[in-house]
Amino acid sequence: MSDPNIPAAKFPTTRMRRNRKADWARRMVCENELKVDDLIWPIFIIEGENQRQPVPSMPGVERLSIDQAVIAARQAAELGIPALALFPNTPDAIRCDEGSEAWNPDNLVCRAVRAIKAETPDIGLLCDVALDPYTSHGHDGLLENGEIVNDKTVEALVRQTINQARAGCDIIAPSDMMDGRIGALRAALEENGFEHVQIMAYAAKYASAFYGPFRDAVGSSGTLKGDKASYQMDYGNGDEALREVALDISEGADMVMIKPGMPYLDIVTRVKQKFAMPTFAYQVSGEYAMLMAAIDNGWLDGDRVIIEALTAFKRAGADGILTYFALDIARKLKG
Ligand code: PBG
Repeated sequence: MSDPNIPAAKFPTTRMRRNRKADWARRMVCENELKVDDLIWPIFIIEGENQRQPVPSMPGVERLSIDQAVIAARQAAELGIPALALFPNTPDAIRCDEGSEAWNPDNLVCRAVRAIKAETPDIGLLCDVALDPYTSHGHDGLLENGEIVNDKTVEALVRQTINQARAGCDIIAPSDMMDGRIGALRAALEENGFEHVQIMAYAAKYASAFYGPFRDAVGSSGTLKGDKASYQMDYGNGDEALREVALDISEGADMVMIKPGMPYLDIVTRVKQKFAMPTFAYQVSGEYAMLMAAIDNGWLDGDRVIIEALTAFKRAGADGILTYFALDIARKLKG
């Protein structure tokens, strides 16, 4: 059988440039297009009122107090952005070894969820599950004798998950990379009457240096002891991502995510082709910082390069992208 993607006829019978001869012709044959529906907007939450704090390593990104987050959520919903991802910058004084603020029903994330849902019930809210915004050592799990212990961490993540579901979170997004957590969270959600809460698993999450600016934003870069290589994946590995994704699907994930994004588009493609699941990619803080640094220097044309980078995720097979550019790009897409 001939491959339909390989032209049957040779030049000059086939001239690839015919379909590129004018804007209308190019639009006719365009295969992938970025839509507002593809965007999930991550925002950082802080205590206080009427606070907007710039994140120096993420030019253009601000941490928002809850009242400001409520305004941002309304703007996002009006533009048609389907969902927000909320990340707390927990005051240092309440970070501790166990990260117990994660299951406080009045923690920043829970209060933000309730406040946003009260004003803007029609936007989806995604909450990360991992202990790093709450632990004094900056790790996603519990640290015992220099080791991140798996099974006890999963118990803590269950408490965090139920706490966030009670606050009204729509999508639980475990970013911790502990083994067996998706199954445990799915079972706990079912048992507690949250059978409609979705799980977007950070299924293939790599131990990446591209998370640096995010750790600044949530205030964990100063506190992190060591690295996350004993739970996040080695960036040299591709097959292992497929095993991670297969496990998370078998344990009850509704959607899977690959993270970081642009340096891992090969993984996005492999995962989408193999599992045909709703597949998301996270254009992480370091990717944002990299683009913004070049844009702010006038070295890259911002409007064009951001759309190109995000469209590449679609071409690779992603159904949606978590991106700090979401609000700006939604405005541009809506003209
Ligand atoms: C925490 C978490 C991280 C990110 C999302 N959730 C950082 C990490 O694993 O250290 C990174 C997001 C980004 O860099 O934009 N578990």
